[in-house]
Amino acid sequence: MTDADARLSQVYEMLVALASNHFERRLEVGDGTEELDAVAAGLNMLAEELAAREQREREVQLRISQAERLAAVGQLAAGVAHEVNNPASFVLANTADVLERLREVSAVLARVRALFPPGSEERRRVGELLDRADVDAALSTSTEMLEESVAGLDRVVAVIADLHAFSRIESEHLRSVDVEAVVNEACKLVQKQASYRARLTRRLGVTGPVRGDHHRLVQVVAGLLVNAIHAVPEGAPEQNEIEVGTASSRGEVRVWVRDTGAGMTPEVRARVFEPFFTTKPTDSGTGLGLSIAAEIVRRYGGHIDVKSEPGEGSTFTVTLPAVDVALAPAPVPSATAVSRARVLIIDDEKALLKVFARLLGVRHEVVLATGGREALALIEGGLVPDVVLCDLMMPEIDGVAVHDELARSHPALAERMLFMSGGTYTPRTQRFLDQHPGRVLPKPIKRADLEEAVARSLAARS
Ligand SMILES: Nc1ncnc2c1ncn2[C@@H]1O[C@H](COP(=O)(O)OP(=O)(O)O)[C@@H](O)[C@H]1O
Ligand SMILES: [Mg+2]
Repeated sequence: MTDADARLSQVYEMLVALASNHFERRLEVGDGTEELDAVAAGLNMLAEELAAREQREREVQLRISQAERLAAVGQLAAGVAHEVNNPASFVLANTADVLERLREVSAVLARVRALFPPGSEERRRVGELLDRADVDAALSTSTEMLEESVAGLDRVVAVIADLHAFSRIESEHLRSVDVEAVVNEACKLVQKQASYRARLTRRLGVTGPVRGDHHRLVQVVAGLLVNAIHAVPEGAPEQNEIEVGTASSRGEVRVWVRDTGAGMTPEVRARVFEPFFTTKPTDSGTGLGLSIAAEIVRRYGGHIDVKSEPGEGSTFTVTLPAVDVALAPAPVPSATAVSRARVLIIDDEKALLKVFARLLGVRHEVVLATGGREALALIEGGLVPDVVLCDLMMPEIDGVAVHDELARSHPALAERMLFMSGGTYTPRTQRFLDQHPGRVLPKPIKRADLEEAVARSLAARS
């Protein structure tokens, strides 16, 4: 067998190994012909890449199964919370009421004593009576016990409210959410608290919207910020830093919170997403913050990662899928919002729909329909758009037909229609346009014109 033959058979074995997922095998490079060495080097690169991919895949699987396990625990906890909520609430209310009455009784007793002048026989007898029953001591001990009970119950009710959050996430209607607005609001919430401990800085990259609920996401980011604040010592705000940042790439949006605080041991780091895991004193941590945050983010199709070393600070990174503009959200009727509107866009050109969704999706919730029939079905199914933006020329049911149908079934909505046109009209559409002046946007449409038209239509509505 020549050297080249031996080399070829090694290469063959390597290929067999790769085909059967043994990515750890490597070939020596430099003892064959130039061509065979190049092949060997290429195969080594391939093996490394495949090994790295397999590792990533394993990590993702681990993350998913961990997240599912924690979510199940969360669901169980939410169920318990649901059962405990009512009794806990009325026990708290009753206990607080009894405490209040007891305080009144103490005040009345003091007044009864004061009815009789000091040193008088009556004063002495009243005193004796009260002493015999140990009334003062009983009152003050009872008051103290009730105060402790109320404080304890306050905590129970707060934990229950947190646990409820787990079950409420399920029923939420997801919208497209402006990530920068989320970060800004979260910062505002914790600004004061942070100021005693650290400089709070923002590093905001350009990101598109994500799908979720604005308030929930504020809760997630604010929770991470509060944890970061807790991790840095009080009293030297210029020496500590908390940074919140945003970035996007490859269809994902990332929000991170980095602190220069105490950091975590590997043992703590491994448990932070467990419900009720906390290293804080009982009155300042429930251990629910991160588990709820992780569950919220998971429901929105994302995940939270953590990097931390003791003494080196921590970084929590929330990763969420960027809004896939091709997907129309489920039709759910809702009250109309003034600043943020639900815009139904109808166009048979899918690529154009995507463009419109991207343009309008930052400010507004966008629902897409690829034709008149689909749009009417959405509205029939309960969708209540604030504005309808409709292409005029479409096959089957065109813009005029959509308008006529809505004028019959939803007259108010027909009033809120705007039309887009490529500039060619049939005599019928021309007549229609003459009857509805000022409602046509000629294509191509610039973002500013689009936003302006939507704003105008909203203003006309209210
Ligand atoms: N930025 C951070 N730095 C250090 N430890 C952290 C940080 N964030 C979270 N942790 C750890 O994770 C635990 C759980 O956090 P969380 O679920 O928010 O509950 P809680 O804040 O009520 O303790 C904390 O008690 C703390 O030990
Ligand atoms: Mg917390």
